[in-house]
Amino acid sequence: MYDIFSLPLIRFPDGFLWGSATAGHQIEGDNTHSQAWHKEQAPEFYAADPERTVRAPSGKACDHYRLYREDVDLIAALGHQAYRMSIEWSRIEPLEGQWDHTAAAHYLDLLERLVQKGIRVFVTLHHFTHPRWFDQLGGFGKADNRRYFERYLTFLLPKITPFVSGWTVINEFNQLGGLTAGPAIAPLKFNMLRAHALGYHLIKQYSAAPVSSAHAFIHWFPRRFHDTLDRRMADFADFTTNEFFFHALRTGELVYPGVDAEYAPEVKGALDCWAINYYTRHMVDARLARLDGPRFRHKQLRMIPMHFYLEEMYPEGLIANLERLRDYPVYITENGCAADDDRFRIVYLALHLSALHEAMERGVDVRGYFYWSLMDNYEWTTFIPRFGLVAVDFRTFRRTPKPSAFFYREVIENNGFSG
Ligand code: NOJ
Repeated sequence: MYDIFSLPLIRFPDGFLWGSATAGHQIEGDNTHSQAWHKEQAPEFYAADPERTVRAPSGKACDHYRLYREDVDLIAALGHQAYRMSIEWSRIEPLEGQWDHTAAAHYLDLLERLVQKGIRVFVTLHHFTHPRWFDQLGGFGKADNRRYFERYLTFLLPKITPFVSGWTVINEFNQLGGLTAGPAIAPLKFNMLRAHALGYHLIKQYSAAPVSSAHAFIHWFPRRFHDTLDRRMADFADFTTNEFFFHALRTGELVYPGVDAEYAPEVKGALDCWAINYYTRHMVDARLARLDGPRFRHKQLRMIPMHFYLEEMYPEGLIANLERLRDYPVYITENGCAADDDRFRIVYLALHLSALHEAMERGVDVRGYFYWSLMDNYEWTTFIPRFGLVAVDFRTFRRTPKPSAFFYREVIENNGFSG
């Protein structure tokens, strides 16, 4: 076992599920019928970065759509017991109402190969991307558009269900409008919850596997801890991005500041587990228009040489936040860090897994952990942040596991840290 710093002896419960996560658009390449692909071709996409030093289109991404067989072997060789992946709606229904059976067969082959290797597959049905035609119709912004999602799921679910051990209906369905979210964003949030509920109840007709939607659990922290305004704004951010969703799922009440409450019975209890994506904490500064304050300087580890990606390691946030979710089992569907120097990743992993274990000792029923990400990939606007356990050469598409991949494999083998 890597003796990087004296790790405490930690054992996770038997049956704890260890895995990694990806998303279709970020790894597959040539996702040409999606709204994301289309946006990446538009000049406005590069307005903030005309030199294109940071921004780039997804292009071939990791070329995973072609190399998926090798990637399945890689996942197995790294000892992962589970894998969270997403299916691209825009490949299966590139034009409204027209099914691409070859694309469906592709995903079935991928799922079957994973299952044959003994890997438990968690499928995300919507990970930020959807067909361009759906976007042009207004996407989830229009309540009536849920019927398109329903029709797609009705086509897809019976085919893939036998291979799926867990479901995320929508990825980060709470990440809308960010910090300054006023009442104008409420209808979209209500729609997302209802789209989630629709997916939940539909899946239940076919599958006994646990269903949830992934929640981006940001820890909002007052920049000046003793300042009443900062604290109130941090609480407000926590309510609109976190508690609003938890409360809605627990009670069916859609209660949002500045708008009349609605009751959505289909949302109440529409989850079998919490699915949590946790990365870091954000500083809330009530005196800044965007509220988004700078991080503590002493904690700004330069993990990659990019100003915009200074994330703080804040594993304590995992404990503080998970303690709020004692009523259902919890899966960590994403947790990871972008680092050029892989030693940061090993420290990040060790600290977050220790924190996770501590949360479990405090009574949180955590069932599994998915590291983000299996491999370096397309981080939505750029290839610069490297989240992978496996390095990808974006010219040759060669995959090379990093030391952190072997560290993680040992954690999985020991079901914890052996000391
Ligand atoms: C959240 C998203 O689900 C994923 O797509 C993204 O790449 C990671 N976090 C890292 O930012």
